Amino acid sequence: MKTEIQTLESRRLWLRAFRQSDAGDVYSLLADGSIADTTFLIPKSYTKEMAEDWISTHQSEFEDRTGITYAIVLKESSKLVGAISLIRIEEGHQAELGYWIGKEYWGKGICTEAAELILEYGFLDLGVLRIHARHMSRNPASGKVLLKIGMKHEGSLRKHLKKWGALENVEIYGVLIEDWKDANHRVDTVPTSAPR
Ligand SMILES: CC(C)(COP(=O)(O)OP(=O)(O)OC[C@H]1O[C@@H](n2cnc3c(N)ncnc32)[C@H](O)[C@@H]1OP(=O)(O)O)[C@@H](O)C(=O)NCCC(=O)NCCS
Repeated sequence: MKTEIQTLESRRLWLRAFRQSDAGDVYSLLADGSIADTTFLIPKSYTKEMAEDWISTHQSEFEDRTGITYAIVLKESSKLVGAISLIRIEEGHQAELGYWIGKEYWGKGICTEAAELILEYGFLDLGVLRIHARHMSRNPASGKVLLKIGMKHEGSLRKHLKKWGALENVEIYGVLIEDWKDANHRVDTVPTSAPR
């Protein structure tokens, strides 16, 4: 069984394990609250200590096979620009996709590229049969990403989430391995010797 998170590579991106030295960058990307506003788990007032605590959970989640979280890094500049995860992994069955990208990097196709890569990892390496995701209805950019990577909209849950005191509608998406293979939503990955 692998105990080290394997780095993945696409045209513009590395997906690599977070390290404690990333905590300052994570804090800078999350500090203004615009990412926390549309995510399910990120607290409103974010601190560097929260980033350190979050990063410290990744290795044990990976070893328990319950989740895998990647730093999204631009190959060109080595800049950390976001995070992408498969969480709630149920072996041989399914996993949930989640992600965020730093605001200054929105709209450049980065999330789509990273999500295609982690989907391929989920289906081919983790061996799950279904990958699903959810977003608040008021966050259509996330829905666009999910459609672009081949997911189907499976339903809407009205007032399903209580977020900072407000009830939010939530959209549910999913893709099955057979549909993903048929659609050939696969990126050209190359064996990697990425810097660690
Ligand atoms: C959602 C998020 C991850 C998207 O990241 P990104 O790297 O900008 O995504 P991409 O560039 O790959 O794709 C975004 C798509 O949404 C589209 N889009 C952006 N704003 C939109 C809007 N208000 N309505 C509809 N589509 C929108 C973009 O045009 C793009 O589609 P296109 O490639 O067809 O033009 C990013 O906005 C983010 O981190 N938001 C805050 C955190 C968050 O909401 N995470 C998801 C929680 S479910």
